[in-house]
Amino acid sequence: MTDSAGVRRSVILGTGSALPVRSVSNAELATQLDTSDEWIVTRTGIRSRHIAGEGETTSSLATAAARAALTAAGVEASSIDLIVLATATPDQTFPATATIVQQQLGCLGGIAFDVAAVCSGFLYALGVADSMLRSGMAKRALVIGAETFSRILDWEDRATCVLFGDGAGAVVLSAQDNEAADAPGILATRLHADGTHNQLLFVDGGPSTTGTVGKLRMKGKEVFRHAVTNLSAVLGEVMDDVGMSPDDIDWLVPHQANARILEATARKLNMSPDKVVMTVDRHANTSAASVPLALDAAVRDGRIKPGQLVMLEAMGGGFTWGASLVRM
Ligand code: UT7
Repeated sequence: MTDSAGVRRSVILGTGSALPVRSVSNAELATQLDTSDEWIVTRTGIRSRHIAGEGETTSSLATAAARAALTAAGVEASSIDLIVLATATPDQTFPATATIVQQQLGCLGGIAFDVAAVCSGFLYALGVADSMLRSGMAKRALVIGAETFSRILDWEDRATCVLFGDGAGAVVLSAQDNEAADAPGILATRLHADGTHNQLLFVDGGPSTTGTVGKLRMKGKEVFRHAVTNLSAVLGEVMDDVGMSPDDIDWLVPHQANARILEATARKLNMSPDKVVMTVDRHANTSAASVPLALDAAVRDGRIKPGQLVMLEAMGGGFTWGASLVRM
């Protein structure tokens, strides 16, 4: 959108992340389950994942990630007037976990709410926050993806429990007016959902059905197939929106569900695997936290630099999927 000051964009001022203390290797899981390090690595690329201990919650991880992002951005929590937190594993059914984070950070009075789009949650949260910043409803946002999926896993189902982990990632997003064509900020976002597939990846409980939290269930092979198709399509849409090709993009920061999905998506786009940020080996699938965790890792190790073009993408339960192109 434009206003009297020029083009308004939502700019990432800083990133942060947080992981539970305990890291669990495939070998450790193989002592409790009929699985092996070899099967998990070959099928998924996962070698270890972090699992929340007692006292580590979605809100505590989210707050730690938010604090790290605020420090990286060099801004005070008091300047935040919007918190959008993506999670499928809130501390409680209500209130929104975003309000708990708001209280912990002490930045009261602004807007705070949760977004439920499972693994695409961070992309949805980023899209919503970007719209609110560009419309003038808020000036500076914390966008957080935070999960404790270990608490909704069936630890006797080897087909799912080895795939997921816990963690949180966050970005500080600020509305900035800048006429320059190469000004930083979110350039384009596309989000989608297709509810006809909502029983391929779901939780078998909830407040209004069973009155319980439920456990994660997934038809992995079918999800895999849809993921590659939908992600390639949405990445194409975003590139068309801005008139760019995969060659123009410096980094692809994908949802970290399975190394084979990441590789297949990059192959479909003719994109070098060297441009793909991969953290699935040590984080596993952390749902809404996976994209901001990977983004923060690549910012902190110096791969992603100011001015570069970064494509974020994710696909998950619902199905929901989306992509966003950001100039850092
Ligand atoms: O975040 C949202 C998006 N989620 C995803 O994108 C996940 C997408 N799906 C996947 O990543 C893959 O489909 C999986 C990793 C879940 C599974 O890989 P697959 O190559 O599709 O394997 P499969 O489900 O076809 O299972 C193959 C075999 C089965 O044995 P049989 O029937 O061939 O005898 C499974 O029982 O592997 C067996 N298996 C295991 N073996 C050892 C399933 N889980 C395990 C395990 N350890 N943990």
